[in-house]
This record gives sequence, structure tokens and C-alpha cells, in this order.
Amino acid sequence: MKYGFIGCGNMGGAVARALSKSTKEIMVSDRSGKAAALAEELGISYGNNQRIASQCDVIFLGVKPHMMRDMLQPLQPILAQRKPMLVTMAAGLTIDAIEEFAAVRLPVIRMMPNTPTAVGKGVIQYCGNDLVEDGVLQDWLRDMQPCGLLDPLEERLIDAASALSGSGPAYMYVFLEALADGAVACGIPRAKALEYAAMTMAGAAEMYLQTKQHPGAMKDAVCSPGGSTIMGLRALEQRGFRGAAMECVLQTYAKNKELGKQ
Ligand SMILES: NC(=O)c1ccc[n+]([C@@H]2O[C@H](COP(=O)([O-])OP(=O)(O)OC[C@H]3O[C@@H](n4cnc5c(N)ncnc54)[C@H](OP(=O)(O)O)[C@@H]3O)[C@@H](O)[C@H]2O)c1
Repeated sequence: MKYGFIGCGNMGGAVARALSKSTKEIMVSDRSGKAAALAEELGISYGNNQRIASQCDVIFLGVKPHMMRDMLQPLQPILAQRKPMLVTMAAGLTIDAIEEFAAVRLPVIRMMPNTPTAVGKGVIQYCGNDLVEDGVLQDWLRDMQPCGLLDPLEERLIDAASALSGSGPAYMYVFLEALADGAVACGIPRAKALEYAAMTMAGAAEMYLQTKQHPGAMKDAVCSPGGSTIMGLRALEQRGFRGAAMECVLQTYAKNKELGKQ
């Protein structure tokens, strides 16, 4: 299977990086030429949108949602002729919208990745239309394995999942940086503080993934009665940490739904 990426920035680039561990049959394109350096680094090829549309079997669409219509419009004749499989990662845009912009019914997978895909720790929800053949889907899933977790999800829930895992790395980085700032304020050197914060987040997440214990129970195991951790938690609760985290996901979800209406 020959893969193409039209748009290869932060997210397309992360997926291309992981996919290149399975196959080097990948061509990427962008407007500025920045993706040429990535292509060279990964040992894949750099082309343009027309070449990708006319040569690739599976084409990832890695442009911003509001650019999708204009990007696909000049490719309509070649898409109608070849009917390659399109894989959209655009926040908010439905499979129906992609078919409308392509002006043809063709196999479409909608996926929602996140940037840790670049290091094999991504979370990717996906769904497809009725034209995606099972054999092709299985080949795609096999090649995508170096990305991380791939989980099938109904299309109506993709915007919600996107608000958690698609956008989530940004929220994690703010928490990570803030925890490290606190440690720096207590006298820990910056590099150590960042490493301790990152390993603590990764370790806590790994414990949950391995044990599936309720997070509240694992939190309780760190909080000695009358101890210092519970005082830290009180500070988080006093400042509305849980409510802020919930509201963060809800507001991202609302914006995702708005993007789909543009
Ligand atoms: N960033 C994330 O964490 C994340 C997570 C989940 C989903 N997504 C989705 O992923 C998509 C890309 O987001 P991003 O953050 O990766 O954006 P980005 O870094 O700005 O990348 C967009 C890419 O599209 C290229 N591009 C724009 N118009 C083009 C055209 N007409 N032909 C060819 N290439 C074109 C850009 O090229 P130039 O740089 O040369 O202009 C750039 O390589 C969006 O739809 C977004 O909703 C992103």
C-alpha cells in the first residue's frame, strides 16, 4: 500500500513519523517545503498534492479543517477517477463533509490522533464509511501499529474523544510545567523538576493502565492521614482543579462541534 500525506505539520508529521516505522512507501506534501526535511529524515519521499492524489492508495489529509474544502477541490477529477482511500484527521469535520469536498463517494476513514503518536504513545480513535473494505482496514491497522493505541469509535463520539485525547497533550504539558514550576520554587533545578514531573505523570498513568484500579483509590494510597499530600490536594480543590479540568474538556468539545459547521 502506498501512503500519502497532504499536509504534514504537527499532526500529519507525527503520524508520518510513526507510520514510517512500518513502511517507507510514503509521500508527503505541504505548501512551504518544510515537509521536505522531514521526508529526508524519515527516508520517505516529498511530492505535491497532485502526485499524491494520482499515485497513493491511502491519502492522509493533514490540513486544518477550514482549509480542507479548498485543498480537495482541485483534486476532485483525479479522486473521482481513482477513488483512493482518504484518511481525515481534521477536528470537527465529518466523513460526509469529506465526501462532499471530494465530490465523490470513496472510502474514508476519520481518525482522531494526538501528537504523542510521534513517539509511539498516541491515542487514535477511528471510524470508516461503508466503502472501507475490511481487508484494507486490517492492512491499515497493521501499518499504523507504531502509532500507539488505535480504538474503533462511533463517529458521533469522535468530537468528544478529540476533546480529551486529541487536545489532551496540551493540557498535560501545562500541568507538567506547572508542577515543575512549583518544584523549582522549592529549590529543585529546572531540568530535574521537569524530568521528575514527566516521570510522575507517566508512572501514575502506567499504574492505572496496568491495574485499572479506581483513580480515587490510588490517590488515597498516597494520602497519609494528617500528611502533606492531602494538604496539596486541598490546595487543588480550593482552586477548582477538578471543575476546571471538566470544563476544559467540555469547552473543547463545543468548539470541535462548531468547527464541523464551518
Ligand atoms: N495538532 C494536534 O495536536 C492535532 C490533534 C488532532 C487532530 N489534529 C488535526 O490535524 C490537522 C492538522 O493540524 P496541525 O496541528 O498538524 O496543523 P499544522 O501544523 O499547521 O499543519 C498543517 C499542514 O497542512 C499543510 N497545508 C496547508 N494547506 C495545504 C495545501 N493546500 N496543500 C498541502 N498542504 C497544505 C501545511 O503546510 P505549510 O506549513 O507548508 O503551510 C502544514 O504542513 C487539523 O485538521 C487538526 O484538526 C491536530
